[in-house]
Amino acid sequence: MHPLSSTPFSSAPEIPLHLKWWAEARYGWSLHFGLYSVAARGEWVRSAERLTDEQYQTYFDRFNPESGWAEAWAEAAVRGGAKYAVLTTKHHDGFCLFDSDLTEFKVPNTPAGRDLVREWVNAVRAAGLRVGLYYSLVDWHHPDCPAKGDRQHPLRDHPGAAERDKACVWERYVDYMHGQLRELCSNYGRIDSLVVDFSYGPYKGDMWGAEKIQRELRALQPDLIFNDRWDNESRKRVPRPVHAGDYEQTEQNLPRRCLTDDAGAPMPWEGWFTLTNSWSHSTTDHHWKRAETIIRALVNCVSKHGNLLLNVSPDARGRIPARALEITRETGEWLELNGGSIYGAGGAPLPKPEWGRWTQKGDTLYAHILEPVIGNISLEGLRSKVSNARLLSCNAEVILADFWNPGVQTFDDPEDIFMNFAKPTASTYPLPDSRDTVVAMECVKTLF
Ligand code: GLC
Repeated sequence: MHPLSSTPFSSAPEIPLHLKWWAEARYGWSLHFGLYSVAARGEWVRSAERLTDEQYQTYFDRFNPESGWAEAWAEAAVRGGAKYAVLTTKHHDGFCLFDSDLTEFKVPNTPAGRDLVREWVNAVRAAGLRVGLYYSLVDWHHPDCPAKGDRQHPLRDHPGAAERDKACVWERYVDYMHGQLRELCSNYGRIDSLVVDFSYGPYKGDMWGAEKIQRELRALQPDLIFNDRWDNESRKRVPRPVHAGDYEQTEQNLPRRCLTDDAGAPMPWEGWFTLTNSWSHSTTDHHWKRAETIIRALVNCVSKHGNLLLNVSPDARGRIPARALEITRETGEWLELNGGSIYGAGGAPLPKPEWGRWTQKGDTLYAHILEPVIGNISLEGLRSKVSNARLLSCNAEVILADFWNPGVQTFDDPEDIFMNFAKPTASTYPLPDSRDTVVAMECVKTLF
C-alpha cells in the first residue's frame, strides 16, 4: 500500500537476467498461419467440424503462400511498433510450418514446397525483432494422441476412434514432440522464446516431459525463455516448479492487477489477444479493435508491469488484411511519438488516477491521460515531488500549478497539485491526443 493513498497498486516483479530483453520490449506481435488459413474459419476448424484426415487434406493440397509474405509481415510488425514476434510453427492440427525430419505432414510437401519457419525467422531477425516460436503440445494429427473421450480431438466421435486409439503409445508422441522442439531449437539460429500451447486435464507437466525437454532446449539455446502453458495447475505454486516457465500469459482478457503467485508476489506476465476475435485469418470476423483500444490496452498492461502480445494473422496468400495494416500503422505512429512511456517502462508506485494510468521509467513518470478532464488535472499527493512536465509527443511544456484560488477552493488534499496544457490552468482544454495524451515529468527519488 502506498502511504499517499488507500488504493493498492502492484510492485514490480523480479526480472531474471535472461528475461530482461522481454520485459523491456513490452510489445510483441504473433501470427497464426497454417492449413486452417485456407479454410479461413479459425485454427480450430478441424476440431469444430470434426474433420477427418482425408477431409483436412484438401487444405494441405492448396496451401501455397506467396513469396515475400514473411518480409511483409515483419515490416508491418516493425512499423506497428512491435519488438518481438511469435509464429505458430505447429498448431493443434499438427501441421508443421517447418521442414521436420520426423513427419511428412509438413509444409515442404504442400504446393508451398519450402520451409516457412526459416523464411519467417530470417525475415523477423533481419527486421530487428526478437524471435519467438509457438509450438502446440496438443496434436490432432499424430497417431499416438488418443481421440476417443478427448474433449477436442477431431475424431473424438468418430466410429473408428476406439479402435484407432488401441495403437496409441503416448511415449512415442512425447519423443516425437521433444524431437521437433529440438529441431526448432537447433536449425534456425538463435531463438529467443518458445511459446507452447496448452495443458488440460491430465495433459500437463510430467505428461509432456516438460522438465526434461526444457533442460535439453536450454542446453541448445541458453537464454531461451518459456511461457507458462506447460502446466495448468502448479505454475503459481511457491516455490515455483522447475518446468513452470518464466512468465504468465492471459488470453483475450486483461487482469485487473499485476499477476501474482500463490504467495502474492508479482510475476512477469503478458496479455495475449487478437486484433479481431479470431487468431487465424477469417473472412467473416470484422470485429476489428480500434488503434485507440490497442494503445490503451498496451498502456493498461505496462501500468501493471505486463507485456502485450497482439495477434495479427495473414490470409492464406500470406497477406495482412488492409484494415489490420491501417489499425496497426496508427498504433505504430502513436508509439513512435510516445514509446518512451512504454518500452523499458513499468508501473508506478502510485494509485490509479481518475483520468487514466501511470507508467514509469527510472525517475520519469508518465501520466497517460485517457479521459477529458474538467479544469486542471490533479496529481494526487505529488506536491513538491514532480517537476519539468512536458508532452512526450512534442516536448511542449505542461504547466504545473497549485490549487486555483487556494483557501477558497478547498477540495481534495493539501499534498495534491495540478497540471494543465495552458494558462489559466483552471480552464478546460481539449486533450492534445484523445486516444492517450502522455505527459512526462521528473519525480524526486523518494517517491520510490
Ligand atoms: C488457445 C487456442 C489457440 C490459440 C492460443 C493463443 O489456447 O487453443 O487456438 O492459438 O490459445 O493463445
